[in-house]
Amino acid sequence: MSIGCQTGPMTDNAQTPVSNETTGKLRAVVTGASTGIGDATVRRLLAEGWSVLAVARREDRLAKLAAETGCDYVAADITSDEDVARIVEAAGPTHALVNNAGGARGVDRVDAADLDNYRWMYETNVLGTVRLTKAMLPQMIPTGRADVLLLTSVAAHGAYEGGGGYTAAKNAERIIGETLRLELNGQPVRVIEIAPGMVQTEEFSLRRLGNDQAKADAVYEGVPNPLVAEDIADAIVWTLTRPHHVNIDLMVIKPLAQAAFHKVYKEA
Ligand SMILES: NC(=O)c1ccc[n+]([C@@H]2O[C@H](COP(=O)([O-])OP(=O)(O)OC[C@H]3O[C@@H](n4cnc5c(N)ncnc54)[C@H](OP(=O)(O)O)[C@@H]3O)[C@@H](O)[C@H]2O)c1
Repeated sequence: MSIGCQTGPMTDNAQTPVSNETTGKLRAVVTGASTGIGDATVRRLLAEGWSVLAVARREDRLAKLAAETGCDYVAADITSDEDVARIVEAAGPTHALVNNAGGARGVDRVDAADLDNYRWMYETNVLGTVRLTKAMLPQMIPTGRADVLLLTSVAAHGAYEGGGGYTAAKNAERIIGETLRLELNGQPVRVIEIAPGMVQTEEFSLRRLGNDQAKADAVYEGVPNPLVAEDIADAIVWTLTRPHHVNIDLMVIKPLAQAAFHKVYKEA
């Protein structure tokens, strides 16, 4: 692994990882790191020898994660310009930005749409991702080996009843990634989309369903082996650790029991 930074357009040595001059490590920023997929990704990247800055709003959870794993952290809201400026400052030269913070709110039909829920989903999944990516790129591109990874969803690739606000936001996030890949062509930046199906995390369905634990549990009841956060962290880290000329544009990952977004096998 060579040490140092390079600037300018992509060259034929793009396969060579270029690590941080001071630490000798690749540096990642992972948003939504206080729980679920983000938490698992921080742990997995650290195990692979990366230096990681964990980001979420709940400082107590980040402090606990940092005490357990040795990651760096900054408590910040990606919907705030001021907070994003603090993330950028704490991150320093960065090789991978894992845009994972996000989620769903509500299952209302379009004719009964709760616009506050729609707004939250757009602000977080789309504008939050754009705000941070835009702010981070100037200190990612000069590393000569940069990755912008987006955690979208199978909901980014279709529609389902009751999913209008979430599918709209995740479809928009996917299109932002595709646009960015076109715009950065010739630069040493991969844009990677990971689109999971059903992942049983502690909070995703709970937050979506108004913090009703019984309703959240019912989502996974009878489903043989839904995905878990570690399955997605494994996929994220696999894409980030391919030789840098290999761009995994899109990875769709569903549990075996899920044939399509709306078709999930459940045991009686
Ligand atoms: N679980 C699934 O079935 C599934 C399937 C497909 C895609 N996904 C996507 O994968 C990602 C992670 O899923 P998950 O299940 O791990 O979700 P989760 O358990 O609900 O965690 C969401 C994370 O995002 C953070 N977050 C939310 N709003 C934020 C904001 N404004 N600023 C900073 N951080 C914020 C939360 O932390 P704080 O509350 O501490 O800020 C939390 O760490 C999401 O984008 C989700 O849409 C999930």
